[in-house]
Amino acid sequence: MSYSAIILAAGDGKRMKSSKPKVMCEVLGDPMLGWVIDSVRGAGISEENTGVIVGNGAETVKQYLAGLGSFRTFMQTERKGTGHAVMQAQEMLADGDNVLVLCGDAPFIDSDIITAALNEHVHCGNDVTVITADLPDPAAYGRIVRDANGEFSGIVEKKDCSLVELGITEVNSGVYWFRAEALKAALPKLAAENAAGEYYLTDTIGIIRESGGKAGTFTAEDTDIVLGANSRSDLLQLNIIAKMRVMAKLMDEGVEFVSTDGIIIGRNVEVGRDTLILPGTILRGDTVIGESCVIGPNTLLENCTVGSGVTLNSVQGYDSRICDRVKAGPFVQLRPGTVLHDGVKIGDFVEIKNSEIGVNTAVSHLAYLGDSDVGKGVNFGCGCVTANYDGVSKFRTKIGDNAFIGCNTNLIAPVEVGENATTAAGSTITKDVPPNSLAIERGETAIKENWEKNFKRKRKA
Ligand code: UD1
Ligand code: CA
Repeated sequence: MSYSAIILAAGDGKRMKSSKPKVMCEVLGDPMLGWVIDSVRGAGISEENTGVIVGNGAETVKQYLAGLGSFRTFMQTERKGTGHAVMQAQEMLADGDNVLVLCGDAPFIDSDIITAALNEHVHCGNDVTVITADLPDPAAYGRIVRDANGEFSGIVEKKDCSLVELGITEVNSGVYWFRAEALKAALPKLAAENAAGEYYLTDTIGIIRESGGKAGTFTAEDTDIVLGANSRSDLLQLNIIAKMRVMAKLMDEGVEFVSTDGIIIGRNVEVGRDTLILPGTILRGDTVIGESCVIGPNTLLENCTVGSGVTLNSVQGYDSRICDRVKAGPFVQLRPGTVLHDGVKIGDFVEIKNSEIGVNTAVSHLAYLGDSDVGKGVNFGCGCVTANYDGVSKFRTKIGDNAFIGCNTNLIAPVEVGENATTAAGSTITKDVPPNSLAIERGETAIKENWEKNFKRKRKA
């Protein structure tokens, strides 16, 4: 017996009022669809056995999926409901398989629950097992209806509920395990006879039971797993819940927060113990932070690796590596390809791009370093700039260990400054500077004595 999954991701998401497909709306910086895919993977279902139904914004969704792996996609040209969506993936329904169906707009479904529900499904010999949860406020979720004996008899959408059914608090998560043959036999019997005029996947429960099949439920203790986003306000709620979950997990691991204000940490971010995260900090993508750092306030890191004992205050860093005991900020931008080695100090209003900065080097104020290889112990005065671009091509600047780059030096790349060399303040360096030497490239000071008396006063008169 093997397992496959069908993720429904074609919906219009009208209530979201977005030009993006709903499943691409983000929770903690990742599209909801990405969360669902991670859970399917976590439950051990391979990419080849996972089909995604696409429709609204299909190209955007397909492009995103291509970046994640080799998933199969099925086009649902007209959106006629969740049952109609599954019909598009008929070829995924191989005899003997069990098929997991999930919604791409409910990101908190969890691998362990998927696996536990499968065990129950197989153990009970069910044709369909619906994952449910008991919500004090059942909102717009489909209600789980049971007969007088407490046996599961079907799912009724809110729009179609009687007053009594509206009061049911057990709801449909939108995640189901089906025996493939049972689902295949039920799909052609679906009718769009309901308030929305759609082919509801939820109607397969009644159809399976009528044909003598067995339907069961698996109730998840963690009620968050059902939460989906149909509107912007739902999406904000999901973000708030996810943020608090990530922060709780990090606190368990020894990370310190003194406030939750403006802190958004992606679910795959790792942070070491005794690191303090201050307000306004956003950590995204594959960011890893070491121990005993102070990150923030107002710091954004995306795909960055940060060592231990690092202080980052008002820093924006992208695809960069920051080693131990680096101090940066405030108001620093680290663009992709930046490597700051141990003990580097970066001060206010400094931008660094695609450059490697050696151990204990200091770039303390108002500087731009692009496409540069800088050695150890180098000191940059205020206002230094590497001119890496001549309008056509980009070139590198090389600076040896312990060089001293005077204030307002322009380094016109390609150019090299040797070890222990010094550039005089205000120089525009266009030629390589040998080690241990001083380079001055500026006009000499001209003194006009008594200029005030002889020139300025005469003019005023
Ligand atoms: C659905 C369930 C409801 C359940 C809830 C859980 C039905 C009829 N209702 O309601 O019982 O409590 O999910 O979140 O199934 N989609 C398509 N093609 C379509 C329509 C929808 O791919 O033609 C996709 C959507 O992109 C979405 C998912 O299916 O990811 C669910 O559709 P949605 O319209 O959001 O259903 P709900 O009203 O939330
Ligand atoms: Ca939904």
